[in-house]
Amino acid sequence: MIQTQGAAGELELAQYKPLDNVELAARIEAARVTLGDELLILGHHYQQDEVIAHADLRGDSYQLSEEAAASTRCRWIVFCGVHFMAETADILANRPAKLVERNQLRVQVVLPDMAAGCSMADMAAIEQVEDAWDQMGEVLDLKLIIPVTYINSAASLKAFCGQHNGIVCTSSNAEAVLKWAFERGSKVLFFPDQHLGRNTARRMGISNDLMPIWNPFEDEFGGNSEQQLTDSRVILWKGHCSVHQMFTAAHVLQFREAHPGIKVLVHPECPQEVVDLSDIDGSTGKIIQTVRSAEPGTKWAIGTELHLVNRLKQEHPDQEIHFLSPVVCMCATMYRIDLAHLCWSLENLVEGKPVNTITVDEETAHWSLVALERMLAVK
Ligand code: 13P
Ligand code: SF4
Repeated sequence: MIQTQGAAGELELAQYKPLDNVELAARIEAARVTLGDELLILGHHYQQDEVIAHADLRGDSYQLSEEAAASTRCRWIVFCGVHFMAETADILANRPAKLVERNQLRVQVVLPDMAAGCSMADMAAIEQVEDAWDQMGEVLDLKLIIPVTYINSAASLKAFCGQHNGIVCTSSNAEAVLKWAFERGSKVLFFPDQHLGRNTARRMGISNDLMPIWNPFEDEFGGNSEQQLTDSRVILWKGHCSVHQMFTAAHVLQFREAHPGIKVLVHPECPQEVVDLSDIDGSTGKIIQTVRSAEPGTKWAIGTELHLVNRLKQEHPDQEIHFLSPVVCMCATMYRIDLAHLCWSLENLVEGKPVNTITVDEETAHWSLVALERMLAVK
């Protein structure tokens, strides 16, 4: 083990960069053995193969939230994913009921690379959402609007939803969450992903003309007229995933023409025209399950992050799996988690010098938890 200490007494990341993957993997496994039950490594499906190989549990955003919420024995959660996921894990793993169970001992959540953010989450800032809410209050009865945030958002936005009778959703429960919202209000403000919001609401029979887009960079009413807001059912925040935005209707049509009988399977963060033309859409967990349960010989064009599609290709050689785009659509921030960062963060834990810990402040955590628990209770 490298013993060079950084300024704060930590092992230095620079020492890990030149090491090859074989050595890094062996050291990661050694650190896992040392930390034993006190360590839980969670991995999102978009992680690179060599990273996800070290995860104790892998899942989509919903499954990973449930795992973090259920954690009992661990002291450390190392999250191979992005920042909002690590924040969510901190909130759920350290909620008051869990702290009582553990005599106030906190689980510390570590994000191996702090630069692993999410460009979609960054498209809605709390100040912008608060400003939008105030503006909506000039023309609408705020008690009738339920704010719904996609889990891909900062904890401050989840807290906003907790404080305003709102809720969190993931790509696997968005429809059930919207139903929950419409049982409590007549309109929904959905952020930050317009595509997930639109695709889900359309499936529930809400037409596009009742879903104005709120552009936070417009001076007044997000670029809408008062009438549009009054008539609306779902107000969609102007945000998107830069990865899924790359899939187009033309890609679907090209695959259908070149491979008759092919099934198109996409993530609901894709634009509406892609989801409309697909056979099946769903979370990363649903995409995996759908391929797993398919007959040998099934042909697929899959529209989601490249690493997951490549892994499915390797795991299902009996099926014909294509990536639904001629260009590379990979999540550059998920990709920031590599073996060097994972090994560095684990060996610092072994040394008792945790790095890159994620802690959500008490007030934000309290209100975020309100919105997250509402989501976890929705079936
Ligand atoms: P799911 O794994 O919940 O489908 O989310 C996809 C995603 O974009 C995570 O950032
Ligand atoms: Fe964010 Fe899109 Fe990457 Fe998911 S795939 S983390 S939504 S940028």
